[in-house]
Amino acid sequence: MANAKITGVGRYIPEKVLDNAYFESIVDTNDEWITRRTGIKERHVSAPDEYTTDMATKAAERAIKDAGITAEDLDLIILGSVTPDYFTPAGACVVQANLGAVNAAAFDFNSACTGFITGLTIAKQFIENGTYKNILVICADVLSKATDYADRSTCILFGDAAGAAVVSASEETGIITTEIGADGTGALALTQLAYRDDEEELEKRVSKNKETIWMAGQAVMKFAVKAMADASQKVLDNAGLTYDDIALVIPHQANYRIVDAAIKRMGITQDKVFLNLEKFGNTSASCIPSSLSQAVEQGRVKNGDKIILVGFGGGLTWGAALLEW
Ligand code: UT7
Repeated sequence: MANAKITGVGRYIPEKVLDNAYFESIVDTNDEWITRRTGIKERHVSAPDEYTTDMATKAAERAIKDAGITAEDLDLIILGSVTPDYFTPAGACVVQANLGAVNAAAFDFNSACTGFITGLTIAKQFIENGTYKNILVICADVLSKATDYADRSTCILFGDAAGAAVVSASEETGIITTEIGADGTGALALTQLAYRDDEEELEKRVSKNKETIWMAGQAVMKFAVKAMADASQKVLDNAGLTYDDIALVIPHQANYRIVDAAIKRMGITQDKVFLNLEKFGNTSASCIPSSLSQAVEQGRVKNGDKIILVGFGGGLTWGAALLEW
């Protein structure tokens, strides 16, 4: 049986930056509150005519190059996003055409901010059962286009980004184990309406704009801390390892307080954790793969290192992956 291994990573971060001073100018907030309660200073946002598949394509091109393969070598492209260009076609099909990945099947999936872990889990199955050899997992979101800029409790959090990884069949150890889960009883803690007419949901939104994200921040925060610590422990247990064996943990970064509480629960110190929230805010499912690509570039992940990727998100969902690099 072949192992599934990440052989290339890439990211795309849009150019425009919104700092905390910008939010002081549009809602009743201030830099001190945002910094103390979230840890965020800046976030990048897409241009008005820049969409999920545009960013996904750029991150994908970089991951393919990094893997040393060509687009024609891809057997499957999967894209996790909560801000698709279209309900149909799938964004993965648009990216397939942009890349010229003529041999690849393509589909989208949605597990919100947990997307990259879900994507790796899907890719691992197809590689290990021998169906495919090269799979492109992409997460991309333009959360800025779904943000309620009249809601001070959410608008300060979100940024846009795309992250991608090529997962290939390998004789080397790669994705050792993954763990994903969901608790739909918490589904309405984080919502973005599509066709459903729901007056109650609409009323929750400050702008009354049904296309925006609404979140019960406190409830999500509470769920997130335990979900991340538990998922991370699960993958360690599955592999018979402890945090002493782990070189780096890359968590989903929604709020510094969530990460801080989760790592305390894990019993690890911050030097084992990759953090860039201050500069990017919460970039949904793109957070983990774009952080991974940065961590590799900065030399914080080296050949043979064992690392944990762990996230949570709307659904509610959670997941963790234990990799050997
Ligand atoms: O990726 C998965 C999605 N999850 C997330 O992105 C994050 C989850 N949750 C959070 O990050 C935090 O819950 C928030 C940052 C959203 C809010 O922080 P909190 O500590 O849970 O604050 P809170 O909602 O309990 O609000 C405390 C106070 C309230 O005022 P009162 O009622 O005590 O007078 C809010 O109105 O802080 C107020 N507040 C603000 N004040 C200044 C809320 N947002 C702001 C703001 N500036 N931007």
